[in-house]
Amino acid sequence: MKDIIKIEKLTKTYEDNIILNNIDLTITEGEFVCLIGPSGEGKTTLLNLIGGFIEKDSGNIKFQGKEIRKPTRDCIMVFQEFDQLFSWKNLKENIGFPLKNSREKLSMEEINNLSTKYIEMVKLKGFENHYPHQLSGGMKQRVALARALATSPKVLLMDEPFGSLDAQTKSSLHSTLLDIWGKTNTTIIFVTHDVREALTLADRIVLLKEGIIREIIDNNEKIPTDKKVAEITRLL
Ligand SMILES: Nc1ncnc2c1ncn2[C@@H]1O[C@H](COP(=O)(O)OP(=O)(O)OP(=O)(O)O)[C@@H](O)[C@H]1O
Ligand SMILES: [Mg+2]
Repeated sequence: MKDIIKIEKLTKTYEDNIILNNIDLTITEGEFVCLIGPSGEGKTTLLNLIGGFIEKDSGNIKFQGKEIRKPTRDCIMVFQEFDQLFSWKNLKENIGFPLKNSREKLSMEEINNLSTKYIEMVKLKGFENHYPHQLSGGMKQRVALARALATSPKVLLMDEPFGSLDAQTKSSLHSTLLDIWGKTNTTIIFVTHDVREALTLADRIVLLKEGIIREIIDNNEKIPTDKKVAEITRLL
């Protein structure tokens, strides 16, 4: 498998505080990586650097061999906040919006078909004409996911997207996300505080602590046993 993101000796400081200290990490195409670590240890900062939203101090972050300098359509971010949708657009318009500005000029019919496809993928058929205020938190995150996926990004960056959801809603979103990931070959970098969530989703779990990568845990089975949860929680 090919590398898609290559991070070498990456350092980021804020006001003399070293947030990320000489980090190396390589992510393979199609991989699902979870970033975990205590609060304030640089997970969002790392995601923002990969997305090209902020500048590094030193080191390299490359996407398919090219230095990442600004946000592009290749790496799309899904946030934790439920208010990331356009409140004045209905569900279908929300998903169709980024497609109107896409690289290849799409016709209205193509936009319509793509929106419908992703609405079905995230299991929101029947809610096309609903506005964000008429949706639950879980449904809004499904829309945000569909909107991000509809543009066919190579990499999906997800910053605690299900962090504020109850366990049952979270678990149903996990199945949807894994299902879509299996079908699309999208590389996913997913930040979470929830060790069980990381063990459910990730091929590899990257533990970020005190500015460095403390541990990379292979998780091919994706079965979050209590024993594994306890082992990783102890490292946090
Ligand atoms: N724009 C900024 N200016 C100054 N300091 C910042 C800025 N953004 C983040 N920081 C600091 O960098 C550190 C890492 O923040 P970051 O948001 O990456 O942590 P995190 O691991 O995502 O935390 P959480 O789990 O709480 O979301 C924190 O100490 C934070 O205060
Ligand atoms: Mg964060």
